[in-house]
Amino acid sequence: MVHGAAALDTAWVRAQFPSLQLRVNGQAAVYFDGPAGTQVPQQVTRAMQEYLLRHNANTGGAFVTSRQTDAGIAAAREAMADFFHCTADEVVFGQNMTTITFALARAIGRELKAGDEIVVTTLDHDANVAPWRALEERGVVVRQADIRATDCTLDLEDLRGKLNSRTKVVAVGYASNAVGTINPVAEITKWAHAAGALAFIDAVHYAPHGAIDVRTLDCDFLVCSPYKFFGPHMGTLYGKREHLERLRPYKVRPASDLFPDRWETGTQPHELIVGITAAVEYLAELGRQCQPGIGTRRDALLAAYTATVPYERKLLTALIAGLLEIPGLAFYGITDPARFTERCSTVSVRIGGHHPTEIATYLGERGIFTWDGNFYALNLTERLGVQERGGVLRIGLVHYNTVDEVERVLAALREFARI
Ligand SMILES: Cc1ncc(COP(=O)(O)O)c(C=O)c1O
Repeated sequence: MVHGAAALDTAWVRAQFPSLQLRVNGQAAVYFDGPAGTQVPQQVTRAMQEYLLRHNANTGGAFVTSRQTDAGIAAAREAMADFFHCTADEVVFGQNMTTITFALARAIGRELKAGDEIVVTTLDHDANVAPWRALEERGVVVRQADIRATDCTLDLEDLRGKLNSRTKVVAVGYASNAVGTINPVAEITKWAHAAGALAFIDAVHYAPHGAIDVRTLDCDFLVCSPYKFFGPHMGTLYGKREHLERLRPYKVRPASDLFPDRWETGTQPHELIVGITAAVEYLAELGRQCQPGIGTRRDALLAAYTATVPYERKLLTALIAGLLEIPGLAFYGITDPARFTERCSTVSVRIGGHHPTEIATYLGERGIFTWDGNFYALNLTERLGVQERGGVLRIGLVHYNTVDEVERVLAALREFARI
């Protein structure tokens, strides 16, 4: 159990990330680009280097480095099992979330027939839309749940109204990578199951901002990308054992028929898999810093989030309050601090008629890294009517950011708005 965790030691946190020392045009770099991939702590690069220098081999061989590689992959499954709160054989590694979701959707599609239905949402990244829409080729009907444009939350009535006895999959995001909205995925999973459908959750954007517990959620699948939570560029899937066992993935014949291995096509990037363990270990170490003497690695992970969630919320509160004072600024998403449990620390804005690229470039020249565009949340930018105008400017905060950095971006945006 986790209680009474100490506050986050930001000095220790920042010392783990060498990239935070970067300077741009004489100023310290500010990394608000986390939603597209966070920075990586030195524990991760050390583990990857150690693997490549001393243990590098393919799997399944009768010699020491191959056995070490097998052990490294098994350790990474254990690490992700702690992260998801599942068992190690329910963890599948893949190139990235998009590739995993296309492969899974294709395997699920083998069980579907024309007229079966899948529900996706307007809030989601296209990687949780296009793989399901690809099944339209088989006659599957894809229905799209709308949002409430005023606060960029899912229209839950609309979503619920789209479920019926033909619904086979409900594909929903845990948190929006564009506007930060956190969806009630446990409730949506219950609705999906009541309709007899599978619940697939895209937790890519949620993972750096909150603890995941697939046992409590009771979802059938949940996918995330370690490079969004301080790890290397890969994707990881949780799948309920019964589904990983039953469904038939497309695979080459000589590859293992056992699961989860048969879901992993070809040779994996073993050094990255080893890096995933190190990313989980980094978070666990953070948790142990906050709560010395904590028991299991899972408890240590929960302790980490117990410290990072309120820390990020403090930064978010300052950021949103400051943004709302900027003349001509349009804000997309929840702004009421009383509702901040419904959102994470990723915000999107526009300023007057300025193209978001213009603002991102202005900030970039001052060493502040933000993103502009649609971030592949294409349904959303179209629905908000900003797609034709360059989308939005996205500022993403994670736990290695600071209040000073928030003040810097606010000062730069105030200056920009005056130009
Ligand atoms: C919410 C969300 N889902 C899916 C993806 C796609 O992830 P990947 O790059 O691992 O395919 C992203 C990447 O930005 C994302 O933010």
